[in-house]
Amino acid sequence: MFTTVIGGTASQGLAKKIAKRLKARYLSSELKIFPDGECKITIRGKPKGRVIIVQSTYPPVDSNLIQALALISKTREYSPKTIAVIPYFGYARQDREFLPGEIVTMRVVAKLFKAVGTTRIVIIDAHSKIALRHFTVPVKNISAVPELAKYFRRLQLKNPLVVSPDFGGIARAGEFAKILNTDYIALVKKRDRKTGKVEIKSSDLRNVSERDVIIVDDMISTGNSIIKAAEFLKKQNCGRLFVACTHALLINDAEKKIRRAGVSKIISANTIPSKTSVVDSSEIIVNAIS
Ligand code: R5P
Repeated sequence: MFTTVIGGTASQGLAKKIAKRLKARYLSSELKIFPDGECKITIRGKPKGRVIIVQSTYPPVDSNLIQALALISKTREYSPKTIAVIPYFGYARQDREFLPGEIVTMRVVAKLFKAVGTTRIVIIDAHSKIALRHFTVPVKNISAVPELAKYFRRLQLKNPLVVSPDFGGIARAGEFAKILNTDYIALVKKRDRKTGKVEIKSSDLRNVSERDVIIVDDMISTGNSIIKAAEFLKKQNCGRLFVACTHALLINDAEKKIRRAGVSKIISANTIPSKTSVVDSSEIIVNAIS
């Protein structure tokens, strides 16, 4: 099937890798921001055949989101089949009404993808199953966890222990640990919904002493969850501390603060391009599309 891959401005590198694997035609897109802040998006060429748009919605979230929607809308003029690959899907954490009156923005965003004519969506490690339920177009949520774990398998680790910073991530930690052929635990994280303050209350206090620890999470934003978990684990006299996550947003000086908390390496997938994004996700995306 003739395929065109379009790289949104947030994901050009990853889009090129996907196009190469699929032996597809690659088209780039360009962004101009007007003085009033509006985005003007241009596709460099005419899409043909099945179209795959690749655009993560990391900060600036709203700008990257409107670009994704505009690209999908435009390509529907040329193709009846437009697959949106949104490796990091922003707004997925706003998947329910935590406090009275809060708008479930994930539901709004899901409606927008339907409205512009998306035929299928592919996401990597979407924040929650609840977030995915808001879509009314077929959505495939794939995981970069095996790829991250394979990276760590190549390192010389001392009796590694895989740790999820919260109970919600226990299955992820289990999947990671299985690939490393080791065990795992989950800490108990409490987040104040008003202030955003994070507290690690207690844990499955299996002995972590002297063991190399890999903290595994779906994403790092401010870094507070990882910092609190790292401080907690250091107090238990753990060995070296590593962090593996799919989406490393690393807002402001999060990376520096995480390192200051004792973490020696942060490894993430290339759903968000950064210094830490050394794990390629193009193969799992291509497998999900094919
Ligand atoms: C929470 O449920 C997520 O899995 C992450 O732990 C969290 O969103 C990371 O945010 P931050 O880095 O700001 O603590």
